[in-house]
Amino acid sequence: MKGNEATMLDMVMGLPEQMAEALERSGKARLGRIPRPQGVTVAGMGGSAIGGDLARDLLRTESPVPIATNRDYAVPASLGPRSLFVAVSYSGNTEETLSAYRAARRSGCTVAVISSGGRLAASARRSRLPLVTVPGGFPPRAALGHLFVSLLVLLERAGLLHRVERRVGEAVSLMVGRRQAWRRRAKLIAKRLRGRLPVVYSTARLLDAVADRWRCQLNENAKVVCHTNRLPEHNHNEVVGMGRPGFLAERTAIVSLLDRGTHRRTALRLKNVLSIAGGGYADAQTLQSEGRGSLARMMSLVMLGDLASVELAGQTGVDPLPVARIDELKRRLARAK
Ligand code: PA5
Repeated sequence: MKGNEATMLDMVMGLPEQMAEALERSGKARLGRIPRPQGVTVAGMGGSAIGGDLARDLLRTESPVPIATNRDYAVPASLGPRSLFVAVSYSGNTEETLSAYRAARRSGCTVAVISSGGRLAASARRSRLPLVTVPGGFPPRAALGHLFVSLLVLLERAGLLHRVERRVGEAVSLMVGRRQAWRRRAKLIAKRLRGRLPVVYSTARLLDAVADRWRCQLNENAKVVCHTNRLPEHNHNEVVGMGRPGFLAERTAIVSLLDRGTHRRTALRLKNVLSIAGGGYADAQTLQSEGRGSLARMMSLVMLGDLASVELAGQTGVDPLPVARIDELKRRLARAK
């Protein structure tokens, strides 16, 4: 196996250990008192934002207040003194996140930061804001364990979820116990995606961000376009367009993500969609989350998707590590200031 592929694979296989480390590190961070908010906004981009989406889905059925992610320069007008705003940027230098952070501070809400350094961490330190510093040296998407678990710890401190340690522990044990089998499975999944447009459907709200994580990892590791959608909403629009334009029909590989929380009618819908639109795709596979608790179930499919994206890169001779176009865009934008 070539160097970069092995490096990325190691990082993905190390996700459970990273989550355990993140729990320990963020538990020691000096976060001070975080007042219980009336709403949470998590600001970030790309690999730093997805943890916010995962937290949103995880807390959907348990948090008394809404959690939203913000991927832009501006912040919503609803931010105010009773809101919690968490700026997440792995590098600490992402311009959209820095801009949203500045706007949030002007709004008078509680602001916290998760970062490995850069201007964001420096500003948070200067202003004595709650700050979780995560270790540097990873591609942001490979630091998901640190970014996501730190966010969960922050949200627990704000009184919005409970038993984070136990839940992370359960996810970690599952991932450690299953990762070799998932790696073998990922090879087969990747084989079915090769040369095709991956289309990933989530069938439960716990898995919406997981499907998006699949898309982003396929984009950045395997360097392919990927489309995502959610059921049952899909059944009210996209079902009509499946397999069109015609060249897509022969080239589309559907991956449907299922959870034990998938509504039985949604499962029935999926079965019928795959049969009604039978000529509209080349391949369809369904993957079931594993584990008991919601965090473990979510992470089982995150890790499987991460592994599939690295496998697909390997099978198609693509280097999973560099993201040259993202880097080039950032350079151009920095020059254009
Ligand atoms: O994966 C990537 O490199 C990107 O999606 C980055 O996460 C994104 O550009 C934002 O950068 P950062 O995570 O440093 O804030």
